[in-house]
Order: sequence, then structure tokens, then C-alpha cells
Amino acid sequence: MPRRIFVTTALPYANGSFHIGHIMEYIQADIWVRFQRMQGHEVHFVCADDAHGAPIMLKAQAEGITPQQLVARIAAERPKYLAGFHIGFDNWHSTDSPENTELSQDIYRKLKAAGLIYTKSIEQFYDPVQGMFLADRYIKGDCPKCGAKDQYGDACENCSSVYAPTDLKNPYSTLSGAAPVLKSSEHYFFRLSDPKCVAFLRQWVNEPGRLQSQVANKAREWLEGEGEKALGDWDISRDAPYFGIPIPDAPGKYFYVWLDAPIGYLASFKNYCTRKGIDFEKFLADTDTEQIHFIGKDIIYFHTLFWPATLKFAGYKVPDHVYVHGFINVSGEKMSKSRGTGISPLRYLDVGMNPEWLRYYIAAKLSSNVEDIDFNPEDFMARVNSDLVGKYVNIASRAASFLSKYFNGDLKYAGDTVPLADGARASAFLVRESYESREFGKAIREAMAIADRINQSFDASQPWILAKDPAKHDELQDVCSRALHGFKLLSVLLAPVLPELAERAAKELFGFDRSFLWSDAESLPSKIRPYQHLMTRVDPKQLDALFEIEKEPAKVTASTPHPASPATEAAQPTAAPATISIDDFAKIDLRTARIIKAEHVEGADKLLKLTLDLGTDTRTVFAGIKSAYDPAKLEGRLTVVVANLAPRKMKFGLSQGMVLAASGEGSGLYLLSPDSGAVPGMRVK
Ligand code: 2FM
Ligand code: ZN
Repeated sequence: MPRRIFVTTALPYANGSFHIGHIMEYIQADIWVRFQRMQGHEVHFVCADDAHGAPIMLKAQAEGITPQQLVARIAAERPKYLAGFHIGFDNWHSTDSPENTELSQDIYRKLKAAGLIYTKSIEQFYDPVQGMFLADRYIKGDCPKCGAKDQYGDACENCSSVYAPTDLKNPYSTLSGAAPVLKSSEHYFFRLSDPKCVAFLRQWVNEPGRLQSQVANKAREWLEGEGEKALGDWDISRDAPYFGIPIPDAPGKYFYVWLDAPIGYLASFKNYCTRKGIDFEKFLADTDTEQIHFIGKDIIYFHTLFWPATLKFAGYKVPDHVYVHGFINVSGEKMSKSRGTGISPLRYLDVGMNPEWLRYYIAAKLSSNVEDIDFNPEDFMARVNSDLVGKYVNIASRAASFLSKYFNGDLKYAGDTVPLADGARASAFLVRESYESREFGKAIREAMAIADRINQSFDASQPWILAKDPAKHDELQDVCSRALHGFKLLSVLLAPVLPELAERAAKELFGFDRSFLWSDAESLPSKIRPYQHLMTRVDPKQLDALFEIEKEPAKVTASTPHPASPATEAAQPTAAPATISIDDFAKIDLRTARIIKAEHVEGADKLLKLTLDLGTDTRTVFAGIKSAYDPAKLEGRLTVVVANLAPRKMKFGLSQGMVLAASGEGSGLYLLSPDSGAVPGMRVK
């Protein structure tokens, strides 16, 4: 029976470009979706931009545009990445859409009717200058325990103590610098602690096979917490100004972004159904429909507690599975979720690297558990070159040339071919089980074991010797036909991972007029067309270009090691740069930043490692200012940073921006500072 499956990946915030973590998740889900479709199942695969919330509103404000304009600009970038990595969503929508407004308000009304919504007045910090309530991340001050300056509202980075934002000494708003005041307002709550919610969630979480065991354990921990850790109710409202969906009959109140974000899954699907003439309500009401969400391990709480409960008590279908993956690190270095350091997916494509290499590498590393995976450049090159090119593609290139040269592309098998087809079926079965359970690494290992067997038997037959003796040509044809059959089998098995290559093999080599289906694994090909080159090896130069591996600049004296930095210009005085337009200038996101830490870098003559607070995030920048500054004296001072410079991988770590310094032809070097009153994150323009 064909299955009917509705699949989503987590909706990315629409205030930044995709990073490698997004691409990994999409590749994981895309492989699974393609695999299901090859089995003949009906799969609808959607995603959307997660458009609402304070950070997007504030970012747009800082840029002098509307949140809608910001979201539209980010949305316009998406297709380049998705097409680039062969990620085949059926629909890409936005949570800032009529469908989402309608669904979110409908769900809210139903939750209210079910008695699960109540209001309560709460007291929170309010920025009198900005005229808004402040989420904890926008409040800083002195640690109440150790007195360290510029600590966030929840915990001290210096002494690790944990506290409430109201405990901070000398609190200030990172948005305006103003001292926040306490102000109360009415908030809307979802009564998650209601016994009927808890009972439902228990049953949902404990359903065998629904969640990975690590995920179910985590959810149970939250669900069964007692005392301070008991499951609390959920604050689902935010006060204006807020970029979000208005709460019905509650002027000035909006849904907290995490309420409407997952509803965006349904909104995107509904939008797709309208375009395709599918009955949205009927599809979801059908008890055979499966609803599956692929997400990262950082958002388990939302997807295993809030989301199923929201759906259940609004009378909607609840998720069948939530499949959770870990993070992707690069050479063991943790990636920041908001900034997505490590590998730039766009740069990957721009330097001409094959997207299927990355798909293959990620697949080879993925299993069904929640562990992080690591992208290691040497390992990447070795695997792609030895597995994909050396083992898999090589079978076709070697065997096909004999078949074309001596047999006009005709394949002929000597003797009994039943074991051949049976063997293929058995292999396909094993690989299928692995894909189904998201054990992609296992699927790849099995496929490569098959490739090894094909290569060994091909080599053992010494076709190059058979070719020299016309009396052995029947044998040659059999050997090469078996190899080509093996290649076709592997192409089917790897098609979910390598969709473009498999499509080319199907059409260009085997003469199909369609893509492979899983059932094509068993059939024996009888003819091939002339072999055309299928895949090149990874060139180490491409990896260098991807990481832009930089040595410390040799002769420059100043600032950060970017080609455009004053450092380079100081060393080689040049004519003033050509005139630029104000629009060109506006592309540079200059921000006030506080140097919260300055350190020497072991083995670097000219660099200091700076940790900068930009108001909304913290960054590391390597600056060539060691000759002019004692690190201890830099800590606490403000400076100006180029905040939207692409991160650069350096010998000592990743540099996420550039600080500005003045320098002339002599040796002096002078870091820029704003006048007093400026706070981290302010735009310089
Ligand atoms: O963590 C995030 O990036 C969120 N934007 C994910 C939302 S997933 C879903 F709920 F929309
Ligand atoms: Zn402290």
C-alpha cells in the first residue's frame, strides 16, 4: 500500500542566510523523501521562512527597512541554495502569510474554547527609550555575584552564576543603552500543565517507535519534572511593538513567534494544497496520513511538548514522528547556530564543488541517532575520491568502454542470471531497511561493500587481457555486462543521495526515459549508450578556496588580516579608492562593539584574539593590532566592527568580522571608538 506522508524540516529564521547546519538538515530529509518516492509512496515535502519575532523586527529597524522587506530579501536567496544542493521541497512559504494568520488564530480560538488559555499580569523589564518590553537577551548589566560588567540577564560568563534579569546591577538595554524599568502587562498563557495535556503528552511521547529513544527520554524528563522543574504553562503572547500575528480580541498583543512558527508547517502545506488542488483538511483528517518533522536537537522541547499539545487540543492531526539530528561541526569546531561559521554553503557552490559530494559525505556520516557529525576536509576528500569516484563511477567508466568498443553497447550474460537478480534484490533489501530507518551511513557502507565486490570480481577476470584475445570476447562481454549491472544496481541504491548523477546514469547510459525507481535495482540492463564522464575527483585547491586558509599576513602592521583592511593599505600606500555610491556604503554593516576579552594568540606575532559583544551576539575577531595594544587595556572598551564581513577561516581559528583602526605610513595604529553613550550593536553610518 502506498503511504501518504507529509514531511517538513525546521523553518529557518528569515533574518539570515542558510548555514551549513540548515543544508545538512535539508539534505537528510531530502534523501529520506527521495527514497520514499522511489518506493512509490506519496510524499509532500514543505518548508517556509520563520518570519516573526523581535530579532527580525529589530534587524529590519536597524537597516531602516520593514520586516517584510527583510524577510523578502532573505526569501529571495533561498532558491539558489536549495537548487544548488538538489533539495527538492515541493513548497517554500512564509509564516508571515495569510494561511498562517488564519491557522494560528483558528488554533488559538480552539485552545481557548478547550479552556486551555488564560491571562495573567507579569512584570518585565521595559526599555523606555525604545518603547518595548525586553527579552532577556537584550538586557545586560553587572553580575550580582561577582560584579563582572556586561553580563547577560540570565547567567554570568565570568563566574557562571545563574540569576534573573531583575537581579542584575546597573542593568541596561542593549538596544538603547537606557536603564530598563519594571512594568507589568497582561500575558496569555497556554495551560500546558493541565492534567489532560500532561496525560496526552505522556501517551504521545511513550508511543513505541514515535521518537528516537534519546529524544523520548528527554521529553519524559521535562514531562515528569517535579517542584521547580515541573512542566510550566507557556507564555504565548508578546506586547506591541512586535512583528507577529495579532491575537484575536486582544489589542496590542501578538503570538510569540514559537506559537506560530510550527503552524507554519501547516500553512506552507495548505498553500501548496491550494496550488495543487489537494483537499488540505481531508488530507490531514485521513488516518493513513503520516506527519513527520525533521529537526535539530536544540528545538526538541518545542516539538515534543508545545507542538503536539497545541495540535491535539485544537483538534488537528498530531505529528507521527519527530526525527532529531545533531549538529554539524567543522574539523571538530562547534558551529554557532546564529552565525553559521565553518563552511559557507554558497561559497561551496561558488568555488565549483559538486553538491553531490557534500550530499554523499553527509549521508555517509548520518545515523538515526542524535549525535553531532563532523565535516573534516581531508576525510571528505578521501571519501569522495575513493568511494564515489574510485569505487563507484570507476566501474562504469572501465566496463562501459569495452562494451562500446567491442560490442556496440550490447550487454550479454553467460549462464544463469537468476542469482544475479536475486543478489541485487537482497542487496537492495538491506539498503532499503537502512534508508527507511535513517541509517544512511549504514546504507552507504553496504553500497560500498557491493562496489568492492564488483570491482574485485571485475579485476580478477582481467578484462584487459580478455580483450586481447578474440576467442575470449564472449567472456569479456559477460564480465563487463555483470559489472554494468552492478553499476546500475548501485546507481539505484545511491539515487536518493546522488539524484543528479543517478538521473544521468538512467537516461544517458541506460537509455531510460524516467528516473530510477527502487524496483529498477533487480532488472538486468541489455544495452548501454556510450559512457560520458560522470564525476570528477575533489581537488585540494577547491578545499583551500572553500576555507580560504590564510596564513598570518607577513609584512603588514595593522588591523585585521583582510585584503581590504587598513593593514594592507598601510603597508602599501595606494591611491584613494574610486568613488562609491551611498548604496555601496550601505552594504557595509558597521556596528559598535565592546571588547569583552582580548588575548594573545600563541604562535602569532601580530594578532590579538578579541571577543566582541555586538549587542545581539558575541564574536571572535583576530586583529593585527598586537604591536600597538596591550590586551588587558583593551578589555571593556568600545570600538567599531564590520559586522557583515564573511567569516574567514584562519590558522588560529575563525575570524568573524574586522575591527577598524587608523594607520598611516609610520608604525602607529589607532583603534576607532565611538563617543560615550554608544552601546554595543548600534549601527555606525
Ligand atoms: O530554531 C529555529 O531556527 C526556528 N526558526 C525553528 C522553527 S521550526 C518550526 F517550528 F517552525
Ligand atoms: Zn559573575
